[in-house]
Amino acid sequence: MCGIIAVKGQNVLPKIIDGLKRLEYRGYDSCGLSYKTDVIHTVKTIGYIDNLEKKIPNKKSNIGIGHTRWATHGIPCEKNSHPHISESGKIACVHNGILENYKELKDKYLSNIKLKSETDSEIIPNLIEYFYNKQNRKNLLKAFFSAIQEFKGSFAIAFISEYDNNIYFARNQSPLVISKFGDEFFLSSDVNGLYSKNQVFYLPNNYVGVLSDDFHVYDNNLQEIDIKYTDYSNMICDINKDGFEYFMLKEIYEIPNAIKKTYNHLKTIEFVLPEKIDNILFVSCGTSYHSSLVGKKYIEKYAQVPVECEIASEFLYNDYLVKPNTLAIFITQSGETADTLKSLELAKNLGLFTLAITNVPNSSVTQLADSTINMQAGVEICVASTKAYTTQIYVLLELTNFLINQKKELYKSIDKNRTLIEGNRTINYIPYSEIGLQNLMDINISDIDIRIDKVAEKLAKLKHLHIIGKNYDYITAMEGSLKIKEISYIFTDAYPCGELKHGTLSLIDNDSYVVAIMTERKLIAKTLNAIHEIISRGGKVICITPFVDVDLSDACDVIFLPDLESVFLPIVSIIPFHLLSYKITRLLGYNPDKPRNLAKSVTVE
Ligand code: G6P
Repeated sequence: MCGIIAVKGQNVLPKIIDGLKRLEYRGYDSCGLSYKTDVIHTVKTIGYIDNLEKKIPNKKSNIGIGHTRWATHGIPCEKNSHPHISESGKIACVHNGILENYKELKDKYLSNIKLKSETDSEIIPNLIEYFYNKQNRKNLLKAFFSAIQEFKGSFAIAFISEYDNNIYFARNQSPLVISKFGDEFFLSSDVNGLYSKNQVFYLPNNYVGVLSDDFHVYDNNLQEIDIKYTDYSNMICDINKDGFEYFMLKEIYEIPNAIKKTYNHLKTIEFVLPEKIDNILFVSCGTSYHSSLVGKKYIEKYAQVPVECEIASEFLYNDYLVKPNTLAIFITQSGETADTLKSLELAKNLGLFTLAITNVPNSSVTQLADSTINMQAGVEICVASTKAYTTQIYVLLELTNFLINQKKELYKSIDKNRTLIEGNRTINYIPYSEIGLQNLMDINISDIDIRIDKVAEKLAKLKHLHIIGKNYDYITAMEGSLKIKEISYIFTDAYPCGELKHGTLSLIDNDSYVVAIMTERKLIAKTLNAIHEIISRGGKVICITPFVDVDLSDACDVIFLPDLESVFLPIVSIIPFHLLSYKITRLLGYNPDKPRNLAKSVTVE
């Protein structure tokens, strides 16, 4: 949610542009940069970084800041885009986050200043300058610190000024990282934005820093701290499309490898979890929430631990009832989602052990949680999550195995023949075979892709689309619906097959299209019922299934899934939706990587 870049070095303008391009997935409705010669110059534009690049002059500068925006206050336009400049024109500032008390601050300190934008952020350079003037222009760092004490809300801030040649920065909730490369320094909202990752420093929450001749960081009492760099050079942020037209398609094709890499990684680590887990609570947002719903089914079915799934923005306000020995799990691809992070803090305050499952090592969630499982899906740039979702589900399957084994340990004496009866169910060691797993990691996305173009052409003409499924397939329907609506802007909804007759069936007529997912053999008859209810009312059905032996001659199209062990089908049944949403979006002429109004990393509540 907004990306910040700052560079102190030689000829910084192209370096700022390069960093902004790496961070563009964080927000892309407008962008801008400020740099200093003897005075501050600012260039802004609406739209992508490419537009900004065309506007920057061929000038040399040693310090500069840049920003790519996802609008919160004020529409996307040049005057609302960052950097914002103080009224004197001497301070230029970029901000990621939300200042909740900006109106109060304006009234209290800046009543005689005429703001130019509709943003909360424009307050920041003006308040810094207010304190700088009030403190007799002695110390810009102290003035910055005074301003920060006034802010309520989340922020990552960087600014430059005509008063010196430094870059000042600070953070609260929203992340900031600094890297040293030779005698140059790069500041970025996340590691992906950094050109070099050999020497990286994560700015701790509530700390401030300054890049002057060197690099200094101060804690919240303004005491200077030692800086220890970490090497993240093995964190590959591949920002090449490798011959694919868009990142989304590349990332879909990376699904088998993302699972393979995560499988290899999980073999080398141990899950650090409490010895007794009697309840599980998942808290997450968006696609990660859908993967938690699959996790619930795996864990309750195979490990027999009761599971609740919460949407983070709801969990914060729903007075959660704490159950004994609850493990709270926070799934977040980016590790930075504000609602998820706040929920994690709440869970810790409730005394729960917290586990993060994330794709970004050292992201904010890893610093807050008691324990972390890092997925190895590789950087995901497209806003719509694809390979991260499938990898999350795979990790949840391995977590299920861990919980099964943990129970086995507890009941060792009864465990004679590798099975254990608890309640009314048998617990098996592992819900899949090694060969089955190998088959999953060897799937060929092109095989699923075969019929997608033809179906996409039909669906691209629609105003709305219904998606149905039962049990696991209902979760896939929800995630598939999210994928199609978020990037193609076609309205979709998802229903359990059995719910059709309680409302949605009234919408079905000769113009209706319904995608039906059918991956569980024991539910074939029930899903077929729903399919026939639709067809007999004139609706057209596209079926997604691995079952070649089922008569689907009534369906207007069938997309076949690979024949895998059933536990893996929730991982692959979403892939046709990934491909369909991508292709529909291209047919409609939109950019699948950058859907309107959305961003990859949602760091505001
Ligand atoms: C945004 C992204 C979604 C993602 C959600 C949660 O809305 O566009 O793709 O599922 O945030 O993100 P997280 O990083 O917490 O998984």
